[in-house]
Amino acid sequence: MLKETKETILEKFVSDNESIKRFQNLMMKYECAMLEVKTKLDVLNAELSHQTNRNPFESIKCRIKKPKSIIEKLERNNLPCTVEAIENNLNDIAGIRVICSFPDDIYKLVEYLTKQDDITVIESKDYISNPKKNGYRSYHLIVEVPIFLTNEKKPMRVEVQFRTIGMDFWASLEHKLKYKQNIADAENITEELYFCADLISQLDKRMQQIRMRIDGANNQD
Ligand code: GTP
Ligand code: MG
Repeated sequence: MLKETKETILEKFVSDNESIKRFQNLMMKYECAMLEVKTKLDVLNAELSHQTNRNPFESIKCRIKKPKSIIEKLERNNLPCTVEAIENNLNDIAGIRVICSFPDDIYKLVEYLTKQDDITVIESKDYISNPKKNGYRSYHLIVEVPIFLTNEKKPMRVEVQFRTIGMDFWASLEHKLKYKQNIADAENITEELYFCADLISQLDKRMQQIRMRIDGANNQD
């Protein structure tokens, strides 16, 4: 991280050590905020799996946006390459992706996370109830969480994406299409992907219904 930061940032930001230090300090804060939110989700996972004997999520992935992607996003949005511009405008420097088996687990986790009293919801987008026109489905949250440092308490933003395994499978493949250029039958692939997104959604619902029937049967004995 340090090497890449120096090389990339030196070219774009004011090239003095002070700016690099401030950039790295900001990234450290995002990392702390990401850890805070991840811990909250891990705690919910522990409690809910204790109650229900199954995990509300299958996996959780965390990432800090790479300096190169930060600069690209600033430029795309006609923003200056400054630490202030990052802090004031970019909400997805710290990102968490939570992969669940069933759609109802997503809604449960969103509810339990957002009702915690140190979490402020900045933005909430339900692309499961309202899929994007290409078929993309996921639940996106931008939350603000305080981090406690030696001399300050600072609210920091974290993006959390919730998806089912099926939705994640779809998004990974669709992502490849988006970033690959000169694909001969891109239009056909887009249509096929849209169709698959719908199939995945139906499959998610049916698997959830089966699970509920099994849960119901277990509750009776
Ligand atoms: P960003 O500039 O990307 O933050 O746009 P936005 O603020 O409109 O965000 P949105 O909540 O729609 O999407 C944020 C993130 O969700 C993206 O960076 C992707 O990781 C993911 N995402 C959104 N739409 C799609 C999509 O159509 N396909 C795939 N594969 N991922 C998507
Ligand atoms: Mg965004």
